[in-house]
Amino acid sequence: MHFTLADLVTDIAQNASEAGADLVELEVHEDDGEFRFLVRDNGKGMTKDELDRALDPFVTDGVKHPCRKVGLGIPFLIQTAEQSGGGWDVKSEKGKGTTASAWFDTGNVDTPPPGDLPGMFRTILMFDGPADIHIRRSRKREGGPLLEYEVRKSDLVDVLGDIEDTESLVLMDKYLRSLEEE
Ligand SMILES: Nc1ncnc2c1ncn2[C@@H]1O[C@H](COP(=O)(O)OP(=O)(O)OP(=O)(O)O)[C@@H](O)[C@H]1O
Ligand SMILES: [Mg+2]
Repeated sequence: MHFTLADLVTDIAQNASEAGADLVELEVHEDDGEFRFLVRDNGKGMTKDELDRALDPFVTDGVKHPCRKVGLGIPFLIQTAEQSGGGWDVKSEKGKGTTASAWFDTGNVDTPPPGDLPGMFRTILMFDGPADIHIRRSRKREGGPLLEYEVRKSDLVDVLGDIEDTESLVLMDKYLRSLEEE
């Protein structure tokens, strides 16, 4: 199966966006052979029991995928991180929100490639639900300069208006890609 770290991040950010949060924060950092990300939302959160179920690959809430018995999102993240020498952490408080993070050894052959990160940011910025989405990104390659930037959905909306119309999408895509250039 071909999937990327961007697919995993997108999935976790989608959970956060579906949790009734007004703010979703995403951090994606790469340095010294490590890729790590964190997704924080101030949405509905989970009780310990709900979190245990979300972490269990053989349980799904039966609402979103009524025909499927197995949830994929968080268990798949955990499995991928653990199989490739990385790690993960999910903390949640009912009524307050959830923070999920994971880290990957990019030198491990079992770690998926990062994938198209600007494309991923665009997808996540377009998720309906949260009033605002904040993205913090950094990348440090050996011997190279530190790349660091922040993007807020509210700022993009201020500048572009409706970010879903075709022209805005093209501009947003160009802008997000330009941020990755050193
Ligand atoms: N950030 C979150 N806030 C609140 N509940 C969450 C959060 N993330 C996950 N959950 C709960 O855990 C369940 C399992 O999440 P998971 O991503 O594994 O599957 P899913 O979102 O139901 O389906 P899929 O991601 O496969 O489309 C969710 O249905 C939701 O009830
Ligand atoms: Mg999910």
